[in-house]
Amino acid sequence: MNVKEFIAEAYPNLALIKYWGKKDEELHIPTKSSLSIAFRIFWTKTVLKIYPGEGKVEKIAINGIPDDLKKIQNFFDKIKKFYPEIKKYNYIIESENNFPSGAGFASSASGYAALAKALGKFLNLSEREIAIIARIGSGSATRSVPSGDIVVWKRGFNSDKELSNLEEVSKRSYGKTLVQKFEGISIIATVLSNKIKKISSREGMKIPVSNADGIYNAYVKTEEKDFKVLEKAILKRDLETVFDITIKSAMRLHGIILSYPNNGIPVFYLYDQSLELAEKFIELIRKEGVIGAYTFDAGPNPFFILQTKDEEIVTSMLKKLNVNYYIYRL
Ligand code: DP6
Repeated sequence: MNVKEFIAEAYPNLALIKYWGKKDEELHIPTKSSLSIAFRIFWTKTVLKIYPGEGKVEKIAINGIPDDLKKIQNFFDKIKKFYPEIKKYNYIIESENNFPSGAGFASSASGYAALAKALGKFLNLSEREIAIIARIGSGSATRSVPSGDIVVWKRGFNSDKELSNLEEVSKRSYGKTLVQKFEGISIIATVLSNKIKKISSREGMKIPVSNADGIYNAYVKTEEKDFKVLEKAILKRDLETVFDITIKSAMRLHGIILSYPNNGIPVFYLYDQSLELAEKFIELIRKEGVIGAYTFDAGPNPFFILQTKDEEIVTSMLKKLNVNYYIYRL
């Protein structure tokens, strides 16, 4: 059998302005733009094996364990429409992750980004095309494709009218490097809990969108405005503004989540300790006269972002509190 192999790797990313909601579920067009920072101590490496066939994924294994074939076949079926070449082959996907369990990062972003990059090698695609494919796997994966430290994912439309041409919007909605190197910054990923969350991000973000009223609409509008301010602040390296908007976007995400119960059942991802630790962090850095931000994804573990020169102030507090953490220095 004539088997060809394509190998690629990708890293997770941490959003400073979050993605929470889709305008289109099929193509993963986000309701708003988002911005992230790379986190390169965790990785996914993917080997994509292809041989003549009919567009079927024959096998997928992550760290040697078979994974959800239906989910990955669905992804291949979606991208076949754009790259018909895919229909001529069958696929075996072998992925390896070095993610410690419960480190607060989902492996879907780096997983789909690595797979999209491997597909990009096979189909000879540009970074932009690869980032679009990754987005169709998992929205945040588009921000794990570009090599830059800071990546933006613009939503791809200016008004709802433009959404009548989804394919065009899809071509404009992809992760792109804003700043290649953003040195001197540390990200501390704490581990308060490694329990699997009750509602995945994919399901969780459907709730406010399908019940959208004035609150969600105002959220999208405010965040879109802050996205532009954050972009400028990053380019000017105005860290005070960067940290201020990061905190606001994290708390807005959780405000929105709490604002939309799921059929009456409250949805929440944070624990009391999550907010307590964020408060302790702010009290500490204010006392020490340094600046920084905390953020949360759809989970209980706080992430701290600050200048590497100030990192130890926070790590000594975490040690005293017996909180485990991982550090990535940009
Ligand atoms: C809270 O990218 O996992 O981490 O597109 O449905 O696969 P799907 O969702 P996903 O959502 C990530 C949500 C978030 C915020 C962010 O990373 O921007």
